[in-house]
Amino acid sequence: MTRTRSEDPNPAGRVNPAVWPARDNLESLRSMRDEARQGGGTKRIEEQHARGKLTARERIDLLLDEGSFEEFDVLKAGRGGHLGGEKSYLSDGVVTGHGSIDGREVFLFSQDFTVVGGSLGEAHSEKIGKVMDHAVRVGAPFIGINDSGGARIQEGVDALAAYGSIFNRNVQASGVIPQISCVMGPCAGGAVYSPAMTDFTFMVESASYMFVTGPNVVKTVIHQDISFEDLGGGAVHAEKSGVAHFVLPNDILCLREVRRLINYLPSNNLQEPPILDLQDPIDRTDPALDYLVPANPNQAYDMKVLIRSILDGAEFFEVHGRFARNLLIGFGRLGGKTIGLIANQPAVLAGVLDSNASVKGARFVRFCDVFNIPLICLVDVPGFMPGPEQEHGGIIRHGAKLLYAFIEATVPRITVVVRKAYGGAYIVMNSKHIGADINYAWPTAEIAVLGPRGAAEVIYRKEIRESSDPHVVLSEKEDFYRKTFANPFLAAKRGYIDDVIFPRDTRGRLIRSLQVLEGKTTQRPKRKHGNIPL
Ligand code: HXC
Repeated sequence: MTRTRSEDPNPAGRVNPAVWPARDNLESLRSMRDEARQGGGTKRIEEQHARGKLTARERIDLLLDEGSFEEFDVLKAGRGGHLGGEKSYLSDGVVTGHGSIDGREVFLFSQDFTVVGGSLGEAHSEKIGKVMDHAVRVGAPFIGINDSGGARIQEGVDALAAYGSIFNRNVQASGVIPQISCVMGPCAGGAVYSPAMTDFTFMVESASYMFVTGPNVVKTVIHQDISFEDLGGGAVHAEKSGVAHFVLPNDILCLREVRRLINYLPSNNLQEPPILDLQDPIDRTDPALDYLVPANPNQAYDMKVLIRSILDGAEFFEVHGRFARNLLIGFGRLGGKTIGLIANQPAVLAGVLDSNASVKGARFVRFCDVFNIPLICLVDVPGFMPGPEQEHGGIIRHGAKLLYAFIEATVPRITVVVRKAYGGAYIVMNSKHIGADINYAWPTAEIAVLGPRGAAEVIYRKEIRESSDPHVVLSEKEDFYRKTFANPFLAAKRGYIDDVIFPRDTRGRLIRSLQVLEGKTTQRPKRKHGNIPL
């Protein structure tokens, strides 16, 4: 059908905008966007600031490269609840979309506490689900900024279903794209399980808390008074529970750390991590390392000195820094490439492996493996932590997780035994026997079944007991054992250690090893998945 001139909505672009109906739509769009940007209104934004918290949009601005944010579903509104009379808000309490971090695309959501307490209902979760699906399809990291009163009570079971749909997506995306959670306000009830299933959780001191049941329920059920902070604040989760990998003093520092973390990670499991040349010579040696290990085997030293010495630009991005500090984990670069580092810390509990350290290490090893990040393991471990507390707390199960995770890992795996490597802990810490690719030892390494005193007490028990001076005999036997076993040479003779290296050369040897392992391939039999001892 041909239109007459008067029916044409824009004849040759000469229509008078004043009478063109689309003009109203432009105005509507402007006012709807303004309304959405206002969230819960000026008063609630002021309250948010008064609590030391930024708004959902301010957080996005800080997280992403300037001007890179592209928003989705700004006009999507909630369908209301089952009580009747609920106000419907544009954007429904969450801002979603994508943007870049140092030029690399990420998808994200940021909950708006000023709108119905950032609570999550049907529309809110559909928005989150949409960006999660995009992130998986295009292979980009996903970041969730949580600040929410949890399931929107007025929406009843629809709100619970909404959480279920997010949990589903968290699991489907696991191991495909990196998932990062920032908890920057309340996160309570079942809502905690989304951050818990993502790869890394950030919290903000004094402003955020996570718990399955809050202080009121604790009071009712077990008659205990406890504050929000003491029950589930950032410090508690960073130090005691291990739920938080990072805790920062405020929103600004927290979001800056997220940007730093992203820079170590590939965008998805099919990519390699980004390369960043810090102009640190590959063959740089550090003569001070020859003197790092004290002459007295019972004296502690700080493993971070070695870590900083070998990494490009001395930059170590520590993960879980306040939890199970007897094991250090984190990212760094060697020759520009990201590596995951697992190291015993002799300065804390003599570097012993306990349940928390094992779980901390195991999850990190699995993250690195799934995202193509080579593993470097620095060993100084006297053994597993003894005692009923650890045994009854399941150190057998937890230690098995670390063992399983290393064996399962197919990325390049390199180990340096710096000092002690005793018993089961020696095997677990990425030994040759469980599939490490290249194993080095320093001349100060002690690789044996037991430490010299414990070993002497067992194998010379009768002799010691029957001697006139048991202390002298014990110490003679201890010395004899140390000379025989407490060195790396027996292991090197057997080929369990590929080379005993000069400490000063460690960085160069590691980088050369990583280069040669770049083309590593591993065949595994087909299966649905293994059954890691959870
Ligand atoms: C609906 C909510 C809400 C929720 C907060 N609001 N949480 N509305 N559903 N879950 C609303 C409040 O009514 C209030 O609205 C506004 O948000 C701000 O909340 P305040 O209480 O004024 O803020 P504050 O004093 O800072 O306290 C924050 C809070 C508290 C501790 C989070 O709001 C609270 O306890 N909320 C309920 C938490 C909860 O039990 N959620 C369900 C958890 S179970 P007005 O209009 O009055 O200002 C869960 C299950 C998940 O989430 C299931 C997964 C399987």
